[in-house]
Amino acid sequence: MVGASDENEAKPATAARIYDYYLGGTHNFPADREAAEAMMRVLPLGPQLARTNRAFLRRAVRHLAESGVRQFLDVGSGIPTVGNVHEIVQQIAPETRVVYVDIDPVAVAESEEILKGNELAAAVHGDLREPASILAHPQVNALLDLDRPVGLLLAAVLHFVPDDDVAYGAVDRLRAALAPGSHLVMSHATTDEVRHDQDELDVAHDIYRRRTTTPLGLRSRSQFERFFAGLELVEPGVVWLPLWRPAPDDPQYFADDPRRSAGLGAVGRVP
Ligand SMILES: C[S@@+](CC[C@H](N)C(=O)[O-])C[C@H]1O[C@@H](n2cnc3c(N)ncnc32)[C@H](O)[C@@H]1O
Repeated sequence: MVGASDENEAKPATAARIYDYYLGGTHNFPADREAAEAMMRVLPLGPQLARTNRAFLRRAVRHLAESGVRQFLDVGSGIPTVGNVHEIVQQIAPETRVVYVDIDPVAVAESEEILKGNELAAAVHGDLREPASILAHPQVNALLDLDRPVGLLLAAVLHFVPDDDVAYGAVDRLRAALAPGSHLVMSHATTDEVRHDQDELDVAHDIYRRRTTTPLGLRSRSQFERFFAGLELVEPGVVWLPLWRPAPDDPQYFADDPRRSAGLGAVGRVP
């Protein structure tokens, strides 16, 4: 049982750096590795889940760039290593602009370092729960023209915004700022149709709640679909992550049963 004092203790790990560790990155600290290892003792698939999610993101942004989207706003971006958005889209169209937004100041600082010399990409500190501040951010406005189509990326971040009112409100606010022809790319952890031991899930929830500032809140398929209400879903619609336009360079972790990826992904177009 976790008492009130635990709620106030320092939160040494972050979701961004736990994820970086799962991806095989080097931008993480001992506290992040300990949290990740503690989770892997009960949920050993953590690294495979992270890599499957990152592969979905890679395919989705590649698809948008190939469809002509030349601006990206990536909220909850983490650390842009190990297959990152700006490299993928700028390889397809060098003039593409990318703004990364993350709540973790260390992730933002590391991102700024990685982006040095790239005039068309920036990393800023921001909180998805405060969408108006993101939209008003000077660097967002300096790099992106919101009157033209934008790829809004919300990959594996909304399950760190457990409050439904806040989560749907934030996505609605960001969506409302997008010009027609913009796209929403989203992935989200779910326990729908996935057989999980509740004790194991409790451990994961407990680790994120106690060791980070971003507690977990999984959503069902229908809750995920609600984020896309009013958008035109790009084929194949809402699917398990490995099934969204699979590519030859994908990791093959969940080929036998894509539900075990425990993540849903979709891309919707603003009409
Ligand atoms: C699992 S990582 C996903 C990284 C990247 N989007 C991807 O899919 O590869 C989740 C990221 O969301 C960030 N995050 C969590 N809550 C956030 C919030 N309220 N606002 C902005 N970023 C947040 C974390 O710091 C972390 O970098």
